[in-house]
Amino acid sequence: MTASNGNMRDLEIVVDGLHKAFDERPVLKGLSLTIARGEMVAIVGGSGCGKTVLLKHLTGHFRPDAGTVLVADHVSTGSPLRDLSTLTEEELDRIRLHWAVVFQRNALLTGTVFHNLALWPREIKRMSDDEIRPLAHRALEDVGLNPDEVMEQDRDSLSGGMAKRVAIARALVMDPVLIFYDEPTAGLDPEMCGQIHELIGQTHAARPSLGVARTSVIITHDTELLRRLGPRVVMLHDGKVHFDGPFEEFAASEDPHIRPYVEQMATLHRRERPPSP
Ligand SMILES: Nc1ncnc2c1ncn2[C@@H]1O[C@H](COP(=O)(O)OP(=O)(O)OP(=O)(O)O)[C@@H](O)[C@H]1O
Ligand SMILES: [Mg+2]
Repeated sequence: MTASNGNMRDLEIVVDGLHKAFDERPVLKGLSLTIARGEMVAIVGGSGCGKTVLLKHLTGHFRPDAGTVLVADHVSTGSPLRDLSTLTEEELDRIRLHWAVVFQRNALLTGTVFHNLALWPREIKRMSDDEIRPLAHRALEDVGLNPDEVMEQDRDSLSGGMAKRVAIARALVMDPVLIFYDEPTAGLDPEMCGQIHELIGQTHAARPSLGVARTSVIITHDTELLRRLGPRVVMLHDGKVHFDGPFEEFAASEDPHIRPYVEQMATLHRRERPPSP
């Protein structure tokens, strides 16, 4: 499923010649990548190759050393592409109205589930708790949790699978056009992974209220996710895009960098554990 229900000319993200180094150690070395609106794209690659660093550039949390990141501005008519490095914090916040991130290890804050779900609508959309509550209710239902049971539950009492669902619900409350997932199934048991795959697929297919196709960018080592959801697979290696194409081709590749990574994926996928309470 490449560019499902998307017009290829409607671009959501254009990365061109992205460079990033930390303490003189280069991580991204001229990475270029174009994502069309409505696409589901999986970013894969060995641990430490720069997937999360790339994500942080896409969301404007890191500034490139060189190169550009353009993103669709859904607040403006026609969703024109804007260069992230030219935006003020206010402009970036406006663009973020239509984004949501499901973080690696969830990044839920201390406090109740409602506290977590209300965070972004309160801060980014300036909504009141009364306005947020029905949205939070709906988002919890959408991720298969009973709002009456979990809304006031403390973060620390959630199981790994529940915490992941809450993290996805927190994204859904934003009604995002663009949704980023950083290792959404890492460390979960196979049954829970299956449920999260389904949820990611359903979320991708559902239209945000803005009426345009939703774009999903998923960082993952989960081969089963790739098999089931069939996203476009983009593999990073040595700071650049090393492979870009369908999963079947990726999994069957004899390329000396792809093969060892594919064999390692299951281990990488299982390695992560949610933070212990
Ligand atoms: N804020 C930072 N300061 C210094 N170095 C960083 C920072 N963020 C990331 N790095 C380094 O950049 C490299 C890429 O890190 P990144 O987190 O993007 O890896 P990843 O591909 O997401 O790996 P994983 O699959 O383990 O999550 C690593 O060597 C990491 O130590
Ligand atoms: Mg990472």
